[in-house]
Amino acid sequence: PDRYAVFGNPIAHSKSPRIHTLFAGQTGEAVEYSALLSEPEEFAQDVMMFLVTGGKGCNITVPFKQEAWELADELSDYAARAKAVNTLAFREDGTMYGANTDGIGIVRDLEQNHGIALQGKRILLLGAGGAVRGVLQPILEAQPASLFIANRTASKALELAQDFAEFGAVSGGGFDTISGQFDLIINGTAASLQGELPPLPDACLAAGGSTYDMMYSAKPTAFVEWGRAQGAAQALDGLGMLVEQAAEAFFIWRNVRPDTQPVLKQLR
Ligand code: ATR
Repeated sequence: PDRYAVFGNPIAHSKSPRIHTLFAGQTGEAVEYSALLSEPEEFAQDVMMFLVTGGKGCNITVPFKQEAWELADELSDYAARAKAVNTLAFREDGTMYGANTDGIGIVRDLEQNHGIALQGKRILLLGAGGAVRGVLQPILEAQPASLFIANRTASKALELAQDFAEFGAVSGGGFDTISGQFDLIINGTAASLQGELPPLPDACLAAGGSTYDMMYSAKPTAFVEWGRAQGAAQALDGLGMLVEQAAEAFFIWRNVRPDTQPVLKQLR
C-alpha cells in the first residue's frame, strides 16, 4: 500500500488514522495511514524523511501547519492565503504540494451534513488564531451577509478582517464590541479545550440560529453546552469538519472522493 501519515504534537489521540483507514476500506484504495509525533525542532526533517522513505503525502496538525506552509514547494490558493498547510502531497519529482482543506471541511459539514447554508447569514466567528485564519476564505466565499471576527486580543481580529476584506463583508474587534444578533456563531478559539467559554453577550444568537465549535471531544465542549443553553437549532461540534477535511485530503492524494456519512456514523 501507499503510505500516508499525520504529523503533530501531541498526536497520540488523533482520529485521522481511523478516518483514513475507513476511507481506504470503503474506496478500495491501497492506503496505509499512521500518526507520527514530531518534536518542535524536527518537523521539517521528519517530513523530508517520510518523503525519501517512500511516503506519498501527509496531514499536518497543531502546531506545525505554518511550518508546513513554509516547507511546501507549491501552494493551493486557500493554503497560500491561510499561511497554513494541513495537507502535503508528495510528487514524483520530489516536490511538495501544500493545501489547506480545513475551510472546505467546515463549510461542507455545515452546508451538506447539517443543512446550514451560509449564504446571506450573519456569522460571528470567535478567535483570530491559526485555526480561524485557515477557514476564513472558504467561509467568506460562501457569501454570508456579514462576518464578524471577535477575539480576546482585538488587534488580531482587526488584522485578520483587513487581510481577508477582498473576499467579502468581514469586520473584527474585541469580545466587548460584539453587537446585534447572529444566525451562526462559530467558535475557533482554543478556550473550549480548557473547558472555558469566550465571554459572549446575552441574546447574541438569533432565533433559529445555530452554533458550531471547531473543536470536539468525547463529551460536549463548553461551547456546545453554551449553544444548547441558548436554544440553538443545532449546537454542533467539529467532528464533522475533521472528517470532511480528511475526505478532501484523501481526494487530493487519490483523486477519489470517499463517502463521509458512514465514517461519521462510526466515529460517533
Ligand atoms: P489555533 O491554531 O488553535 O488557532 P492560536 O493561533 O494560538 O491557536 O490561537 C488561539 C486562539 O484562541 C486565539 O484567538 C486566542 O485568543 P488571543 O489571540 O487573544 O490569544 C484564543 N484563546 C485561547 N484561549 C482563550 C481563552 N481562554 N479565552 C478566549 N480566547 C482564547
